[in-house]
Amino acid sequence: MTATIAPASRMPGALPLPDLYARVSRHVPAIEWPALAPDIEAILRLKREKNAVILAHNYQAPEIFHTVADIVGDSLALAREAVTVDADIIVLAGVHFMAETAKLLNPSKTVLIPDMGAGCSLADSITAEDVRALRRTYPGVPVVTYVNTSAAVKAESDLCCTSGNAVQVVRSLNAPRVLMIPDEFLAQNVQAEVPEVEILTWAGHCEVHERFTPADIRDVRESYPGVTVIAHPECPPDVVAESDFSGSTAMMMDYVVQKRPAQVVLVTECSMADNIAAANPDIEFIKPCNMCPHMKRMSLRNIRRSLETLTHEVTVDPALADRARAAVERMLAVRTR
Ligand code: 13P
Ligand code: SF4
Repeated sequence: MTATIAPASRMPGALPLPDLYARVSRHVPAIEWPALAPDIEAILRLKREKNAVILAHNYQAPEIFHTVADIVGDSLALAREAVTVDADIIVLAGVHFMAETAKLLNPSKTVLIPDMGAGCSLADSITAEDVRALRRTYPGVPVVTYVNTSAAVKAESDLCCTSGNAVQVVRSLNAPRVLMIPDEFLAQNVQAEVPEVEILTWAGHCEVHERFTPADIRDVRESYPGVTVIAHPECPPDVVAESDFSGSTAMMMDYVVQKRPAQVVLVTECSMADNIAAANPDIEFIKPCNMCPHMKRMSLRNIRRSLETLTHEVTVDPALADRARAAVERMLAVRTR
């Protein structure tokens, strides 16, 4: 990982439909466009009528990312942007913990998620009681919690981190030992960069990234000599070790756009390559990739329905909101450059 933190990208605003199609034409066959266009038009109209913005994660499908999203980014960028939204409604095209984080950071807004079932295997891997038990086992050891967790788990933590700032967050504590939970692989990858700190962790994994193996990387290098390999730090450490670069989804995008490799493989969720490829036709993106079933619960159809019916509203239990917010705000206060 590097210290470069990519900002969120603001999308160009409502373009005419043919221009929107041009942005996704490599990924959406012309025959499918007439089925999508009415939902896109409706979403653009509903955003204006209801004073809503759509924050979309980098793993969203190209027809969401490139046509209706107002702001796109990694988890860190979406959290930072959520603080400053002044529209009345935030629709989070991503997963539940991202919507909950937006609600924590901008509590007066209505935060909607189009499908409440959009979870995350990491968030599901640990409970607030687990964190309390860890604190009893390791008294005095600061707890850094990945943002991919519930508000209840954040509320038991000292501060949060994302894959875009985990190294800086750990260093900021100046502590000899740190509990970094629940992503075991992220913790191990950070440990490699911060050897002066002993990092204790938890056995949570991302169901998408844990499936990549070093053999996958070697196979792709054999088939495409000279290919650049970029892995998300939720991948196992032996996969990251075989890669040329590792960073958050936004850092991966930045790396590709700045270094402009002729051929690149993004060892992460499938839509990432599609979303970068649209604006970089000269770069060849080699897949393998794995699909996140939670991210893929978002669709144009359910984003439209979410705006029409103002569902599903994401709220945070007031009994824990202040403590959870404090953990996220302490993360945002850590200098990343
Ligand atoms: P980023 O913060 O890198 O966007 O990652 C979020 C995520 O869920 C990756 O699986
Ligand atoms: Fe969670 Fe992994 Fe999906 Fe990201 S890709 S939302 S970490 S399951």
